[in-house]
Amino acid sequence: MTSLWQETAPGIPTDEFEPRAHYDVVIAGAGLTGLTTAMLLARAGKRVAVLEAREVGAVATGRTTGKLSVLQGQQLQRIRSTSGRRVMRAYVEANRAGFDWLLDYASPLEGAVERRNAYSYAGTADGILTVRAEHEAAIEAGLDARLVSPEELPYPSYGAVMLPDQAQLDPLVVLAALAAELRSLGGVVVEGSRVLGLAARPAPVRVATTRGEVLADRVVIATGSPVLDRGLYWAKLKPQRSYVLSFRVPGAAPKGMYLSVDAPTRSLRTAGSGEEELLLVGGNGHGVGRHDSPASCVDDLTAWTLQHWPGAERTHAWSAQDYETPHRVPFSGWMPRGAGRVYLATGYDKWGMTNAVQCALTIAATLTGDEVPSWARTLGRRITTPQALAAGLGANAAVGWWYAKGYARALVHRLDDDAPTAGEGEIGRDGWRVSAASRIDGAECRVSGICTHLGAALTWNDHERSWDCPAHGSRFSAEGEVLEGPATRPLARR
Ligand SMILES: Cc1cc2nc3c(=O)[nH]c(=O)nc-3n(C[C@H](O)[C@H](O)[C@H](O)COP(=O)(O)OP(=O)(O)OC[C@H]3O[C@@H](n4cnc5c(N)ncnc54)[C@H](O)[C@@H]3O)c2cc1C
Ligand code: FES
Repeated sequence: MTSLWQETAPGIPTDEFEPRAHYDVVIAGAGLTGLTTAMLLARAGKRVAVLEAREVGAVATGRTTGKLSVLQGQQLQRIRSTSGRRVMRAYVEANRAGFDWLLDYASPLEGAVERRNAYSYAGTADGILTVRAEHEAAIEAGLDARLVSPEELPYPSYGAVMLPDQAQLDPLVVLAALAAELRSLGGVVVEGSRVLGLAARPAPVRVATTRGEVLADRVVIATGSPVLDRGLYWAKLKPQRSYVLSFRVPGAAPKGMYLSVDAPTRSLRTAGSGEEELLLVGGNGHGVGRHDSPASCVDDLTAWTLQHWPGAERTHAWSAQDYETPHRVPFSGWMPRGAGRVYLATGYDKWGMTNAVQCALTIAATLTGDEVPSWARTLGRRITTPQALAAGLGANAAVGWWYAKGYARALVHRLDDDAPTAGEGEIGRDGWRVSAASRIDGAECRVSGICTHLGAALTWNDHERSWDCPAHGSRFSAEGEVLEGPATRPLARR
């Protein structure tokens, strides 16, 4: 489903793919990470190509909630408990650097940014302990955070921590400006070019794409979940999907940006759309491919909004996913087995507006030989604590369980010739092959039901009408095209 940002986005031109062209840097992925890194490198005089599998902003950045904030729910106390105080402070410095850079960049762009206070609030009496712990962590990290009682919410809240002067963005206005500046500096943005793999030795790096090969001295993988299997990042990332809805509401919407610290998560902000102001409501996150009915998550958020803003009228409903690391700090830097020529950034845990930029600043400084900020060195040298290790092991045990459950479900269900019903998708066996059948707008489609990444059985997403992988978060259209995640090959047509 199209997001509000995608529907109102400025046009972003695409450049020609030039087979065998040699660039200083090739970047895979035209989200906030890829385009910010590319533009910083182009400013430093590098010849840069951004290769985008779909369109600019097609995945997380074009479908985000777009809060630009250093106060991030309960992120600081989580990082403090998994990685310690020093790492938490470095994380805050990194996010401040990302915040300052993006605010400076976006402020002159028309309609890109509005300053707002950010609130992490308790929706239950128990939640106030989390609010207090976040306040304490924020103060320890040097933030001007305050304990307050929010007064503009139409439902009870038990207190909040507030950070003043944060901001809300239109992410596609920002991406359009980054792409335009990159092109004005001689860079190219090529849509519809999926990176399939690369050979880092001997130099230069040979990058294979769906449209041919290009050469590069350095490569940056900015594809959300990294598409190369080097470093096994798919085993270290937890893909989490979540929902964002926009509404016309009678009367004034809350001015602040709110995020509940307790379940069910509720995220609020406003957005200008032409003459009117819309209320954005987000939440109901879950593991990718692990919810029986994503459409029911949208229905539930809609019902919740109508309960608290009677007469609200929904204008858009979309979903997106981001990746959580075991220690809640992004992975950024050189990729193993890349001969020091391949870099990556991922794992922003739904806080990519600041984190994508701090990672871009670090990678650009590394590639241009500039001094890398001390916060980046602290984050880069972070050790894996027993808490982070346990979180990673737990996540991988859950993946194993989903492999078993997926195959068991598929093999006991035989697909009929006329399956499934209109608007639905069904996974089952076709003889002894696991197949995925869907019927959308009268068109029946039958594709392999096995993920092309590492072979888990897929599940149907009844909101986005896609096949989603519960193992590492790859997603495919009903016709089998790759939408996102670590997979690079489409599903075979039956
Ligand atoms: C529901 C939701 C709400 C969020 N809200 C906020 C928020 O309020 N504040 C905040 O700070 N963060 C938020 N985030 C997080 C933030 O949106 C993301 O962390 C950020 O947009 C990630 O940017 P990116 O450039 O790394 O990834 P993306 O924007 O996903 O860009 C990756 C690009 O790579 C492309 N690609 C993939 N594979 C290939 C390939 N093989 N070859 C070439 N290209 C490829 C994709 O098509 C995509 O365009 C939210 C995330 C979600 C899911
Ligand atoms: S994403 Fe890894 S098996 Fe599907």
